[in-house]
Amino acid sequence: MNYSIETNRIENVKSDCVVVGIYSNQTLSASAQMVDSATNGLISSVVKRGDILGKLNDTLFLNVIPNSDIERVLLVGLGEQKPLTTKNYRKVLATTISTIKKSRLNSVVIALTDIDVEKADLNLKTRQIVEVFEDAIYQFIDCKSKPADEMTLKNIVISATDSVANLGLAQGLAISSGVNLAKHLADLPPNICTPTFLAEQGLTLAKNFDNIETTILDVADMEKLGMGSLLGVTRGSREPAKLISIEYKGGEANAKPIVFVGKGLTFDAGGISLKPGAGMDEMKHDMCGGAAVLGTLQAAAELSLPLNIVGLIPATENLPDGQACKPGDVLTSMSGKTIEVLNTDAEGRLILCDTLTYAKRFNPDVVIDLATLTGAVLVALGRVPSGLLGNDDALCNDLISASETANDSVWRLPLWEEYQEQLKSNFADLANIGGKDAGTITAACFLANFTEGFRWAHLDIAGTAWRTGSAKGATGRPVPLLMQYLLNRVNA
Ligand code: BES
Ligand code: MN
Ligand code: ZN
Repeated sequence: MNYSIETNRIENVKSDCVVVGIYSNQTLSASAQMVDSATNGLISSVVKRGDILGKLNDTLFLNVIPNSDIERVLLVGLGEQKPLTTKNYRKVLATTISTIKKSRLNSVVIALTDIDVEKADLNLKTRQIVEVFEDAIYQFIDCKSKPADEMTLKNIVISATDSVANLGLAQGLAISSGVNLAKHLADLPPNICTPTFLAEQGLTLAKNFDNIETTILDVADMEKLGMGSLLGVTRGSREPAKLISIEYKGGEANAKPIVFVGKGLTFDAGGISLKPGAGMDEMKHDMCGGAAVLGTLQAAAELSLPLNIVGLIPATENLPDGQACKPGDVLTSMSGKTIEVLNTDAEGRLILCDTLTYAKRFNPDVVIDLATLTGAVLVALGRVPSGLLGNDDALCNDLISASETANDSVWRLPLWEEYQEQLKSNFADLANIGGKDAGTITAACFLANFTEGFRWAHLDIAGTAWRTGSAKGATGRPVPLLMQYLLNRVNA
């Protein structure tokens, strides 16, 4: 899709269709008024006839415009005449793109940046247009033998009063390409998207950007480092595990890096503590944390952010096999702490803990891990916010504030020491599960044992990175949140 910014008056821009807004009191947006004059009052006359009320997400497509240079008009309802919430603005945009997708148009002018949106400037509104549109346009077609219906739409022109919208466009394109990368990797089947395949994605980033360096640690390297916990998980799989380390150097040479750690479990069958069969296919998405790290680094590099960022992705499968780790096994992690594996399906924390220990080598400013870690986060929070836990209030607050701007929500859960009781083991330093209560918190408490000496936050994205049911597929979250966090860090 080709996007551009147009600061000319809309009636002078050639396209197949212009999209403008109308409020539910039948007031036309500024652009709609301009289109109204350029079409000899056509908009006001159809509004007067009551053909569109202007309720949120109403649409009216005018496909013949007599005596005018304007070819077609799509009117979209904005609801009450007051600043829209970001959520409603995004709904309007989603309605717009889904209507356009069904048409046979080649080019459209989107004249919706003139609408007042709470806490959103032109830059952010432009970005939202690109993000919502790209999300709707995305399809996963790699494994279909017949090509999908091709969309005719080629050019999206965003009408804006000021060329600063170009920054919003650039940000929107970078974030969307990061989101799309994350979605695509998670949607790929697990026989294609293996740990080796994920490692290749890391190497591709290094090839595409001069200031990215990727190192792949293999099983022998992990043995040398003493990553007994990660190695315990991978023993049941025949696909070799990889620890992918990606360094983006966009900042001052001595600036401490922001480290992202993403769970890259390319298929989670549960191991010997085997999961039930129904819906097990969806456990290909257990690498969404890793995919979001790749997407975020790509977007950061595309925008040349002046920061140093490290992405670490432990990648493995979790399968049952004669060699697999068993319940009762005790693993020695890289930190030296021993772990009694009471359930081999709580494998995410086992691969993350050694990666968190490894993260210390980068002398991090902060470490943020993202993982489809617990089913319990779905029980607690559903599929709306990601679970947020961490040992540093300032970092958690920064993430909360970024999540609000990015419309990629998080909700903080407590990480109090009382919960550590649940992880006591009779045979090792720690158990890898904490019983049925507070599963998301005890999982984070487990990780907290490996974060001494640095500021750390954990995002449990099991409810937000993936959609189930008829819209089954990846969402690309939390790439928008992480990108907003990085953009805020640049501006700080
Ligand atoms: N990858 C799963 C968590 C998960 C569940 C992600 C549902 C997405 C949707 C994780 O490895 C897991 O199996 N967790 C167990 C932990 C339990 C054994 C303590 C869970 O949540 O059931
Ligand atoms: Mn599991
Ligand atoms: Zn898992």
